Formats: sequence, C-alpha cells, structure tokens
Amino acid sequence: MTFRARHLLGIEPLHPIEITTLLDLADEYVSLNRASVKHSDVLKGLTQINMFFENSTRTQASFELAGKRLGADVMNMSMQASSIKKGETLVDTALTLNAMHPDLLVVRHPHSGAVDLLAQKVNCAVLNAGDGRHEHPTQALLDALTIRRAKGRLHRLNIAICGDIAHSRVARSNILLLGKMENRIRLVGPPTLVPSGAEDWGVEVYDDMAEGLRDCDVVMMLRLQKERMDGGFIPSEREYYHRFGLDAEKLAVARPDAIVMHPGPMNRGVEIDGTIADDINRSVIQEQVEMGVAVRMAAMDLLARNLRAEVSDG
Ligand code: NCD
Repeated sequence: MTFRARHLLGIEPLHPIEITTLLDLADEYVSLNRASVKHSDVLKGLTQINMFFENSTRTQASFELAGKRLGADVMNMSMQASSIKKGETLVDTALTLNAMHPDLLVVRHPHSGAVDLLAQKVNCAVLNAGDGRHEHPTQALLDALTIRRAKGRLHRLNIAICGDIAHSRVARSNILLLGKMENRIRLVGPPTLVPSGAEDWGVEVYDDMAEGLRDCDVVMMLRLQKERMDGGFIPSEREYYHRFGLDAEKLAVARPDAIVMHPGPMNRGVEIDGTIADDINRSVIQEQVEMGVAVRMAAMDLLARNLRAEVSDG
C-alpha cells in the first residue's frame, strides 16, 4: 500500500509517493467522469458527511459529486444554521456526529487547526476541505493534477504563486506539495501580502510581476481574500490590479506555453483580467474544477481502502 494515511488533513505529512499514487488514481477517475455512465460502487454502503462551517460553493459541490459518483450515501450539513449557533463546541458537534457512524467526514472550518482537532475525536476518516489559513490539501492535489496533465510532468517547473499569499491556505498547501515534488517556486506579491520569513520556505520572493513571472511554466493567481483582511493591506483595488493583476502584458514575460491557474472564486479585474481567465489557450481554470472532482474521488477511495484494512486487521 503506497497511501497509508488515515485522514487527509494536509499536504505536510504526505510522502511524494503517496501524492503520486493519489494523482495516478485520480487520472483514472477523470476517465470515469468523462464516460457517459459516471458511476462506481467503491464507496457503496459508506456514509459521507460534509460539514461546512464556512461558505463554499465549488468545494462542497465537488465533494458531494465525488461521493455520489462512487456510490456513497452523502449528507450535507449546513453548519451556519446548526447548533454551533446555539453554543455547542466543536468537540461536542464531533462527538454527536461520531455517534451516527459516518465513514468519511469532509470538514471546512474558518479556524486553522479546527479540522485536526475534530479528527482526534472521531473514528472515521476526516478530509480537510480548508481550515483557516492553514491547509486546503485537495485544492493543492487538484492543482498538481492539472499541472501534471498540462505539462506532462510535476517536477523541475518554474511556478509563480501570485497575490494574497499571507491569507491563503491554497498557497500554503501548494508550496508544500510543489516543493516536495522539486519545483522552483516563486511567490509574487506586495510585501504586505507575503508573510515575513517566506524566504526560509525554500522559495524565491518577488514584489514585481515582471521579475517574478519571467520564464515561468505555471502562473497561479490567488484571490484577494478581503474577508480575512482587517486593515490596509493594499492601497486600492485599482492600484493592486495595476501592479499585481494578471493581464496579457504581464503574462508576456512568462514562457509562451505557460498555463494560468486560479482556485476560484475569481475577482475579475482585481487579481486577473477576465480575457486571460477565459482564454482557453492559456487558462486551465475550468480543468482545475474538473480535476477537483476526480482528486476528491481518489482521496476518498484511498481513505476508504485504509478504513477497510483497519477493520479486517481487527
Ligand atoms: C479557495 C478557498 O476556499 O480557500 N477556494 C476554493 O476552495 N475553491 C480559495 C479562495 O477562497 O480564494
């Protein structure tokens, strides 16, 4: 078995071989998802509960579809309107759910570390769908699959991650994953949006798009996370777009076959020009969404195999 984890809480504990195993399986699920009958029974009889304590459209839909395509019984809990509002603690919520015997628990939470805490209290496999600024492992895995399919490899690429790095769990998980696979990573953004000490993570840091994007194979744009900002991180959105928004002129210094990525949701005209985002010769943003379903199917399949192995081992 080359994927041993009990939970998928982050990229940090994963070995490159586990990442490759998961991506290889996800490739198979891409084919299934493109077939006319998109169904498998690998999660048949298992219960998947999606708990989103933070608003999400694409990630929740993606996990729901992934579970349904694999035959799981999927339940979505809207945590906005839940007993949390009545004062229940996260641990009590976890214990209540645990008593219902779910097999797979998909959790998004606004606080870093909340999903790890929850995983310690339940008997099922937990998948982190994004916790605060900490990690968003399935996003990094779907980005990796998108890159690997577009570039034919996932190593020795020049990859620029641009924009609001400080508030981004997507950036953090991607830096970990792409670093483990031996790529050259550049972080590009205003100093107010790049965490201090980022140079120590084995990346290069730039505050100028023309320098940061030069000869890049991959340009990954990030959303300006206004909801996580409580002060003056940028002078104005107009100024930000002028200096850091990706447009054709800024992209021109990257390699001619460079791909453009964005995890969504996009702020068009803030971090990215709409024409670039829609350019099917450059942008792989729709592929990222497609890969998302396949990667989540692969992740849940592998975790379910480990659950079964645990049961048969006694
Ligand atoms: C990301 C997230 O929620 O962290 N989006 C996503 O998962 N599709 C990035 C973002 O919100 O900007």
